[in-house]
Amino acid sequence: MNSRFNPEKKSGAIPSSEITDRKVFEQRRTLIKASVAGAAGSLFGYSLGTGSALANEVADEDTIRAAFRTTEELTSQKTATSYNNFYELGTDKGDPARYANRLITEPWSVKVDGECNKPGTYTLEDILKPHDIEERIYRLRCVEAWSMVIPWNGFQLGDLLKRFEPTGNAKYVAFETILDPDRLPGQRRPVLQWPYREGLRLDEAMHPLTILATGMYGEDIPNQNGAPLRLVVPWKYGFKSIKSIVRISFTEKEPPTSWNMSAPHEYGFYSNVNPKVSHPRWSQSRERRLAGETKGISALFSPKVETHFLNGYADQVGSLYADMDLKKFF
Ligand code: MTE
Repeated sequence: MNSRFNPEKKSGAIPSSEITDRKVFEQRRTLIKASVAGAAGSLFGYSLGTGSALANEVADEDTIRAAFRTTEELTSQKTATSYNNFYELGTDKGDPARYANRLITEPWSVKVDGECNKPGTYTLEDILKPHDIEERIYRLRCVEAWSMVIPWNGFQLGDLLKRFEPTGNAKYVAFETILDPDRLPGQRRPVLQWPYREGLRLDEAMHPLTILATGMYGEDIPNQNGAPLRLVVPWKYGFKSIKSIVRISFTEKEPPTSWNMSAPHEYGFYSNVNPKVSHPRWSQSRERRLAGETKGISALFSPKVETHFLNGYADQVGSLYADMDLKKFF
């Protein structure tokens, strides 16, 4: 949801005080629309132009829908909006919320270029107008081994990408975050090469589980979580979910990505959540679940739970990687 452009949806926003009420979740889940199934179906007829034979095998409606039916306890809105990674705003977990007002999100536009028939600079309004913003509940698992369960409001990235008419040469999609070192304190330090960059294979990008989020907990997405437009790829480590996107490029070659550029042996292009493939410096078999409310250092004492292959979305997205050696393509 983005109330900037859709005021009547704002009135239906659910206050955070109700967020932990199970009945409310059940009701809200019934709001998730059948367009998910529609999009999955339409992908069958869509030429992805990736070399992957798997592009045609999209999980069926039931498995896609199952992904939204998590019964896991939600992370509190307070935790999800105050314990963040957004290095443009600083490297401390509290910095993104602390410096959130340094990010100016209005006006906002996204440059679209590369292998597509409809390149251009699109305003946020252009991008959001035709989209039915839905609610989905996902686990986002972060690189430092904590995870959250967040109700996102967003729409399928694939629905947007189709509008730009990718050519047959488009095999990947690259994303970039805003570059504004004058205002964003973290961009004055070389902790990463700016702007923050991420990428997906085109069939991953077109998968119905991949969304662009514009809100969370029934409200506009806060700046610290990546306003006004942020990727959510729930089966990958959190750093793939790039925030505050200003550029989308269709490419023939695998695009460079920030964490891979910074530490290629530690962070691969795919970065699929995989308990069997350890990070060189730590195991990735268990994660700290930030459920309910967690503050600052107390996150370090949250209970550990088993990490699931593809973050629990193997039924939905496993076929994308059927023939790949995931130790090699980590
Ligand atoms: N996007 C940008 N532009 N800059 C960042 O530093 N951090 C990533 C990802 N997206 C990051 C980013 C990492 S490491 C994680 S774990 C998630 O955002 C954190 O998302 P959250 O703060 O909403 O939980």
